Amino acid sequence: MRVCALCNAQSRPPWLLASFEDMLRELSEALASLPVTTEPGLLASLVAARQRGELQAAQVLDLAVTVMKGAADTTCLLVGNALVAAQREAGEDPTAPRSAEALTHLLEASLRQDAPVQLTVREAVEKVCLAGVGIPKGARLLLRLGATGRDTCSMSSGESASRAPRHGLAFGAGSHRCPGAGLAMMQARVILEGLWRTPGVFHVDVRAMEPHGLAALRGPRHLPLRW
Ligand code: HEM
Repeated sequence: MRVCALCNAQSRPPWLLASFEDMLRELSEALASLPVTTEPGLLASLVAARQRGELQAAQVLDLAVTVMKGAADTTCLLVGNALVAAQREAGEDPTAPRSAEALTHLLEASLRQDAPVQLTVREAVEKVCLAGVGIPKGARLLLRLGATGRDTCSMSSGESASRAPRHGLAFGAGSHRCPGAGLAMMQARVILEGLWRTPGVFHVDVRAMEPHGLAALRGPRHLPLRW
């Protein structure tokens, strides 16, 4: 069984672990039966790399799970967080359609205040000193990505945490920065615009929201919308 170091999958209920195992089995069968093609695409590239002997089947499976889980959960959380942020914005109707610019602002503010991915881990490959703190080679670091969007030290004077222009480190940074950031933003836009276009008035029931409940992720597991 695979256990996530961050979210302690072992503490999850048996039905959830069983469904995870089912997903692994199905995905592994699907990957094994994917034809090797030269078509562009992430899964196709992974399968081709396995065919060339550059990756083992287990590595292809791990990477496919990373992409699927990293893509689906996070984007759902972003949409939920943005709806909650819209509901909480003083004096604004959360269900009113917004301009493209206002939607970008909403998503970026939400990513900054409530980053769906709160934590990540790194290992120091060499001894380093950061902000006066000595970090020995080989140390494992738990990085609080979610805190960066609220870090007033990184904002110029006059900016507040809710109005600063960027979305902190919600998509990470450097060579492992999220490759799906553009897709996630596009999906969130399409979903929110679709909701706002749906006839009728909906209400985001923030009081009935259930949080995701994992330290590594932030956002609603359950967020009722009522028409
Ligand atoms: C709102 C949605 C998303 C958020 C907040 C998010 C956040 C992140 C963060 C913070 C990282 C860096 C983790 C680290 O450096 O340790 C990351 C990596 C990654 N993300 Fe996303 N992500 C989102 C959507 C997506 C989507 C849609 C995809 C794929 C279609 C995706 C695929 C990946 C992959 C494969 C990595 C690993 C990259 C690497 O290690 O080089 N993510 N994501």
